[in-house]
Amino acid sequence: MGKPGIKVFAPASVANVAVGFDILGFALESPGDEIIVREGTKPGLIITEIQGAGGKLPYDIMKNTAGYAAYRLLEHLGEADRPLEMEIHKKMPFGSGLGSSAASAAGGVFAVNEYLRTGLSKYDILRFAVEGEQIADGAFHADNVGPSLLGGMLLIRDNDTLDVKKLHIPHGLCAAVIYPHVEVLTRESRGILKKEVSFKDVIKQTGNLGSFVAGMYTSDFDLISRSLQDLLVEPQRAHLIPHFYEMKVLALNAGSLGFSISGAGPSMFALCNNSGIAEAVTEVAEKLFKLKKVPVTTYLSKINHEGAIRF
Ligand code: HSE
Repeated sequence: MGKPGIKVFAPASVANVAVGFDILGFALESPGDEIIVREGTKPGLIITEIQGAGGKLPYDIMKNTAGYAAYRLLEHLGEADRPLEMEIHKKMPFGSGLGSSAASAAGGVFAVNEYLRTGLSKYDILRFAVEGEQIADGAFHADNVGPSLLGGMLLIRDNDTLDVKKLHIPHGLCAAVIYPHVEVLTRESRGILKKEVSFKDVIKQTGNLGSFVAGMYTSDFDLISRSLQDLLVEPQRAHLIPHFYEMKVLALNAGSLGFSISGAGPSMFALCNNSGIAEAVTEVAEKLFKLKKVPVTTYLSKINHEGAIRF
């Protein structure tokens, strides 16, 4: 046992949300990662322990999303030599589409920020968290990291400047998340995307995004439901996910507002206007994947408004 430190939780997230590739995401109540930070004995930040990652995550802080995000904050503060130790407890699967590397990045920078009592806000440290996540998939986008750190459903007007806005959440909105146990790496799932899309599809998709946001602010579940369609990315990634379209039909028939891929997949999400429907979606998902002999984990969650917390 090391010296006492502080412990934080950073939740999983659903990115893209059908209508906002790279610019929309929401935080789940669980699962999530836990990170402990305490005073170290040697100059600089070191990762002393990683649990739950099956030996797949690097201890090198320059290669670890939690370590790098925290390091970027320390560098910004002129404290890169500050002796600090970090423990990472992974509580969610990799390559699952639940924002696993992003939760670690958000948790890593948040833990150090809390430990050092820097006075910086979550918004102030968001950039470092996104930089941490960037080492996992090579791209700078806050649609997982943002919700994981800040909570809520986050719309990103511009990823470069991190101009973000938490959306109003209508009462009752919740999600069913279905994770079939196959690994899809974000870097690869991004790599298969076409570099160009048709003007006609962009017009339709802009309509869907704008109307989704309008539906959120007016609690218009019918409008939210009509808007939750992804013409751009879902058709290109669906083949990476076992039984995606069968599951989609079942989720919509169960009464969900909309159904699509969570982040880069293979997880899928259904947004629902009450928890009874979300539960019905998880039940049909469990039956389907049992029948198809694909191991599956399901989650039921409201939108998590808090994001990363100290506990
Ligand atoms: N928007 C990202 C993607 C989320 O779909 O590739 C996963 O990092």
